[in-house]
Amino acid sequence: MQKLLIQHSPPLQGTVKIGGAKNSVLPILAATILIRDTCTIHDVPHLSDVSMMRQLLEVFGVKSKVSSSDVIADSSAIVPASAPYEISSKMRASILVMGSLLARVGKAVVPLPGGCAIGSRPVDLHLKGFAALGAKIKSEHGYVSATAKKLYGAKIYLDFPSVGATENIMMAAVLAKGQTVIENCSVEPEIVDLANFLNAAGGDIKGAGTGTIRINGVQELHDVEHSIIPDRVEAGTFMIAAALTRGDILIENVLVDHVRPLIAKLHEMKIEIDTYDNGVRVRYPDELQIKGVDLKTMPHPGFPTDLQAQFMTLLTVAKGTSIVTETIFENRFMHVGELKRMGADIKIEGRSAVVDGIAKLTGAQVKATDLRAGAALTLAGLVAEGETEIEDVYHILRGYDGLDQKLASLGANIQLVGTE
Ligand code: UD1
Repeated sequence: MQKLLIQHSPPLQGTVKIGGAKNSVLPILAATILIRDTCTIHDVPHLSDVSMMRQLLEVFGVKSKVSSSDVIADSSAIVPASAPYEISSKMRASILVMGSLLARVGKAVVPLPGGCAIGSRPVDLHLKGFAALGAKIKSEHGYVSATAKKLYGAKIYLDFPSVGATENIMMAAVLAKGQTVIENCSVEPEIVDLANFLNAAGGDIKGAGTGTIRINGVQELHDVEHSIIPDRVEAGTFMIAAALTRGDILIENVLVDHVRPLIAKLHEMKIEIDTYDNGVRVRYPDELQIKGVDLKTMPHPGFPTDLQAQFMTLLTVAKGTSIVTETIFENRFMHVGELKRMGADIKIEGRSAVVDGIAKLTGAQVKATDLRAGAALTLAGLVAEGETEIEDVYHILRGYDGLDQKLASLGANIQLVGTE
């Protein structure tokens, strides 16, 4: 079992480079199923979720190899197998293969996602979308299947702008006959990246990044080369680390538009931020005593739920009371109990957490209960008195490529110990 050992660290300083976005590469890898040809994907981060997605794709006949930060995938022969429970139960993004499989081979069978650490996370919107395109949906023995000889374009209104449902429906519709219109769809940057990938392969998708996407079905997609967008959550984590440790970090390979909601909040706290074409510098001004701010997670361009836990760590040591409201996932406060073990003063009231700032966190033995909770605890360890030991580090490795090494290169006292 691997653990992170973190000692109170000096203000983080230096330059760090952000990798490709986990939440872009997973749907794009799933989309390779649609393409009877070779896909070359650049800027792929080294993450356990990426390895797991490649393993899952192999079950359906996708042959892929990794070379440095490229993945080359060959989907010339696809078989309509069921997604194995062992993989799907570990990675919710497994559901993203459904749309591609349905479009390419007319059948997709995937285990129904069970409860998950951050909420029940249903997939009803994905399935409603497939049904609107003409698929038959069945659920039995813990698996859900979608079958269709041919998919037909349709008008689909999403009750909630779900990221995964928008991606899955887009993948199913790209080879459907006629036009599909997805209304009230997600506008996250990762949706735009997936649409750009599919369009570069010969798809006809318009409106990605707006609330309505129009997809004109095409007969076939062809070979494609694509670079993954930078990971805005990884970038945001380092931006918060700079503010929290009273440091000064230049974060490279960031699309500034993607981190605007976080910049707005840090500005509100009087943290200094310089933006460049391809990066941000976050600096803690001398003599500043940061004050708490309220925060509400929202779909993009609102404040991302994937940075809520890390930002809460910052609020635990900001002066005054802050209220953090989570509107995307109903149970995404797993980090609160662990932060309290480190001395934080937080009360949960329904979907809000009331954070009363304290002078100092104290190191403790804690558990990473999910990916972003793990990142929040890692940040907390940097400013806590004494040593923090984080267990269940595998959650963090699912979504951060070398977090410990990158933090250490900025001066953090952090060590990943033990074996996988
Ligand atoms: C994606 C991201 C995740 C991020 C989340 C919200 C990936 C691999 N993961 O997850 O990191 O936190 O977006 O930005 O990209 N919902 C339904 N029915 C559905 C689908 C979703 O009720 O069919 C609900 C979910 O339970 C949740 C909300 O909609 O409460 C948002 O979920 P969604 O946008 O689908 O998130 P994911 O795609 O799972």
